[in-house]
Amino acid sequence: MRSIILDCDPGHDDAVAMLLAWGSPVIDLVAVTTVFGNQTLDRVTRNALGVAAVAGIHGIPFAAGADRPLVRELATAGDFHGESGLDGPELPAASVALDPRHAAQLIIDLVMAAPTGTITLVPTAALTNIALAARLEPRIVPRVREVVLMGGGYGGGNWTAAAEFNILADPEAAHIVFGAGWPVTMAGLDVTHRALATPDVVADIVALGTPVARFVDELMGFFRESYRSHQGFEHPPVHDAVAVAYVADPAVLTVRRAPVSIELTGTHTLGMTLADLRGPAPDGTTTSIATGIDVPRFWALVTDAIARIR
Ligand code: BDR
Ligand code: CA
Repeated sequence: MRSIILDCDPGHDDAVAMLLAWGSPVIDLVAVTTVFGNQTLDRVTRNALGVAAVAGIHGIPFAAGADRPLVRELATAGDFHGESGLDGPELPAASVALDPRHAAQLIIDLVMAAPTGTITLVPTAALTNIALAARLEPRIVPRVREVVLMGGGYGGGNWTAAAEFNILADPEAAHIVFGAGWPVTMAGLDVTHRALATPDVVADIVALGTPVARFVDELMGFFRESYRSHQGFEHPPVHDAVAVAYVADPAVLTVRRAPVSIELTGTHTLGMTLADLRGPAPDGTTTSIATGIDVPRFWALVTDAIARIR
């Protein structure tokens, strides 16, 4: 069993990541924290609580965190995820209350209370909360088992030619998180652009016949149209679920250790995750990048987890 804290900005793919984390028999979802990103903090937090209500996620804390990046101006991804941040399905009212703590404080409290090396952080959004937590309480860094994040890409970006949205949303926070010294695995666009919700995959999920399966179908319907019109994708990539899937089953991804630097000053390359792939990683390298994905294995995990949510 792997204990994770999911730090997210739901977001259609974040919603699927939440469902995978809750439904997986090998993941213990310890908390869900939210950060600005796909929409404003209040909207993505409402969405996280709405997804929890749909799936019956209960007994864990939900906390809201940063409403803006550390240094730069707030930018959201409303084009992709709609006005609400989760356009498509009707969301029910929240069934759990929000924890009063800031997300960074909740992360610190949970990591400090758990035995060393047991909690994995899974950020699927801007890295602001994680960076704040590491700065506020550096003792969490050696206590966290690993950070497995969706963000970046060594082969190019989606928000700019060089940068992926989650990293560009707060590059200084990404710089802190990638450089903190804890093990970081980057599940970037190189692999998540292959995790596509094709009609076959969606049909398998719909065939489960549950309310959660219908919810996923509605989510993917909206997401497909936005990816078609904004990026010319035939099917939408369910980025964030890939990071959770890797924690559940490391065989889903092929990973390689490599130094990763976050570009903070480039004219055209701000927010780029520059991976140094020249030969073997130097001793002491704490960052890894995902280079391959077993797509059927990934979808089998997601579908199985959704099937378990009744
Ligand atoms: C990432 O950006 C967000 O819009 C998605 O939820 C995902 O985390 C993909 O670049
Ligand atoms: Ca996200």
